[in-house]
Amino acid sequence: MSKAIQPVRGMNDVLPDEMPLWRHVEDTARAIFAAYGYGEMRLPLLEKTELFARSIGEVTDIVEKEMYTFEDRSGESLTLRPEATAGMVRAGISNGLLHNQIQRLWCTGPMFRHERPQKGRYRQFHQLNVEAYGLTGPGIDAEMILMSARLWRALGVADLVRLEINSLGTPAARATYRDTLVAYLRRREAELDEDSRRRLVTNPLRVLDSKNPEMRAVIAEAPSILDYLDDESRRHFDELCALLTDNGVQFRVNPRLVRGLDYYTRTVFEWLTDRLGAQDAVCSGGRYDGLVELLGGQPTPAIGWAAGIERLVELVREHGKPPPADLPHVYFAAVGAAAERAACTLAERLRDRGLRVVLNTGAGGFKAQLRRADRSGAAYAVVLGDDEAARRVAGVKPLRERGEQQEMPWDALAEYLLRCCLGS
Ligand code: HAM
Repeated sequence: MSKAIQPVRGMNDVLPDEMPLWRHVEDTARAIFAAYGYGEMRLPLLEKTELFARSIGEVTDIVEKEMYTFEDRSGESLTLRPEATAGMVRAGISNGLLHNQIQRLWCTGPMFRHERPQKGRYRQFHQLNVEAYGLTGPGIDAEMILMSARLWRALGVADLVRLEINSLGTPAARATYRDTLVAYLRRREAELDEDSRRRLVTNPLRVLDSKNPEMRAVIAEAPSILDYLDDESRRHFDELCALLTDNGVQFRVNPRLVRGLDYYTRTVFEWLTDRLGAQDAVCSGGRYDGLVELLGGQPTPAIGWAAGIERLVELVREHGKPPPADLPHVYFAAVGAAAERAACTLAERLRDRGLRVVLNTGAGGFKAQLRRADRSGAAYAVVLGDDEAARRVAGVKPLRERGEQQEMPWDALAEYLLRCCLGS
């Protein structure tokens, strides 16, 4: 026997057992996005490498260390998307969706980052991603956050997540803050770990993001970006806080929240949880008012967020409101050539009426088939032998509750099972 081929590290299969939960998360989100007027987009998984280098930033972990980049057969450098925002902006510009327009868009699908895999952190993971374009005021920031909060409520995980928000101001305000921060960090350089020393030179705001416990004091005592905001950003942030409070959304202002992608301006936010171990971010986002122009479009205000589906699925599985499983209504057991032939047609007729029907396949007597029926989770077994086939009747046996098997004519089967399974 040849050696089995292993999956790529950090890339997971989603098995049929897990799919109802995935679909529940995706369908719930889909309905909520529609309720706020967001239209779905589907984007390529591959983009030109330059798109991500320019938008996420050359000196970020994603671009420096985590991208799946390769040359295609024509020698062009392509990258499997590590996130969706850059592609969304690229698509918005390429398709003329952004100039002088208001757009509310969403997409979902796999993203790829070559990170060290651990629970909740994968190399192929999936995001729900929403973006809005053309709106400057804090109203859309509030809408984005309210939409995410509604999703947590619908999934039954609202009590497990908490919101942190911050403002990074305009690029000019951020530059002033950056100088102050660098001066502060230089004064405390002896206390910085190796990573932070490197970031001090390349991307000093990211020092605030360090997870190293030994850096805690340096970070806690660092100057706050909120003291360096320009007036307009300050007003924007205060109004957003008021809107969230008006709508009963609790939050904590965290001036150390800086995010790992360079395109953000003003509002940034993150929904965190204590239930998933080290990977605590369930949903993250913010404003990126400069990105459309940076990628060759007209200046266009923008904001969005992305939620990790694997992390949401895990939260719902462990603590939320799991969906009712899509179990079969009926398992069709048939023994004998005439019975098997009739079962195929009868099962089709039941499916025509909207029932989920699994037809026994493979050999086996009634005993073995009924064991399979039980394992399938079906509510009823329909049992058919050649003798019943000749008389055009079938046995119907409840599998989940008490009750005797009863015989009924084929013509009565669908009505009876519809009444029992769907109440119609
Ligand atoms: P991000 O913080 O890089 O932001 O990712 C957003 C979410 O994706 C995280 O909060 C987390 O739930 C999930 N996630 C990230 N990396 C992984 C991973 N390796 N394994 C599993 N889940 C992961 C963005 O991607 C921005 N594009 C969000 C955004 C949209 N900003 C504006 N619009």
